[in-house]
Amino acid sequence: MNKVDGPVVKRVAVVTGGNRGIGKEIARQLAAKGLQVIITSRDEGRGRSAVQELLATGLHVKLQVADVHEIGDVARMMERIQSDYGPDVLVNNAGVILDRGVSVLDVGESVVRQTLETNFFGALRMTQAAIPLMKKHHYGRIVNISSGLGAFEIMQDGYGLKGSSSAYRISKTMLNALTCLVSQEVAGIGIKVNAVCPGRVQTDMGGEDAPLTVAEGADTAVWLATMEDDGPGGEYFRERRRIAW
Ligand SMILES: NC(=O)c1ccc[n+]([C@@H]2O[C@H](COP(=O)([O-])OP(=O)(O)OC[C@H]3O[C@@H](n4cnc5c(N)ncnc54)[C@H](OP(=O)(O)O)[C@@H]3O)[C@@H](O)[C@H]2O)c1
Repeated sequence: MNKVDGPVVKRVAVVTGGNRGIGKEIARQLAAKGLQVIITSRDEGRGRSAVQELLATGLHVKLQVADVHEIGDVARMMERIQSDYGPDVLVNNAGVILDRGVSVLDVGESVVRQTLETNFFGALRMTQAAIPLMKKHHYGRIVNISSGLGAFEIMQDGYGLKGSSSAYRISKTMLNALTCLVSQEVAGIGIKVNAVCPGRVQTDMGGEDAPLTVAEGADTAVWLATMEDDGPGGEYFRERRRIAW
């Protein structure tokens, strides 16, 4: 929590990969709800231009330059965020898809590793760095931006993709597992951890022809990031409804 003029007023939210796409929109919606938002960007220029865009609309948003691949970046970032009395909210949004159209039988091991490095290890690093700070405040909301493509239920029926994007899909299955395990570790101490499938959203990743706007894609994550203490933990959502892992 950020202390401004005496009493506690603002929750502090960190959104990884907040310089574009769904992450930037989650940052926008959280800031519009009155949170102090810190976006992370691995590229300073792209991060600055996103922050300028949001500041120009009157929203309070700061930038931390960090690549979620780098444990040193994550540690330094958390140290700085701690001075803002945060984070209360962590949205693990940064993600890559590097094996579109490639069969699981052909995907290179290095591509799988690179994908896991961002989509799974990035979230793990951020979570491990954030939880001790959240424990101090007896409050935390962690939202992992997953994908329905990582759900066993959908993988079992093929979803018309026949093993394509398997590195991406496996990374999201692992992120789902992380969601369940961390949620159990912090149960009962004010910290809620959930996963979200945003649906197919109009971003660089989702493509222009995707059915959902970024505002629609960000909605469930923002809802979970700001829910009350009696809200769910260790669950997987799409359009604010629980879905199967
Ligand atoms: N769009 C969809 O239809 C859809 C569907 C299901 C799930 N998702 C998930 O939603 C999340 C956001 O997707 P999006 O559509 O907004 O994608 P996007 O437009 O491609 O944006 C991805 C963001 O992640 C950042 N990022 C990637 N690697 C990073 C790293 N190592 N360190 C820090 N930041 C990094 C990117 O930064 P740079 O600008 O530096 O590359 C960018 O800000 C992802 O986790 C994605 O898997 C998206």
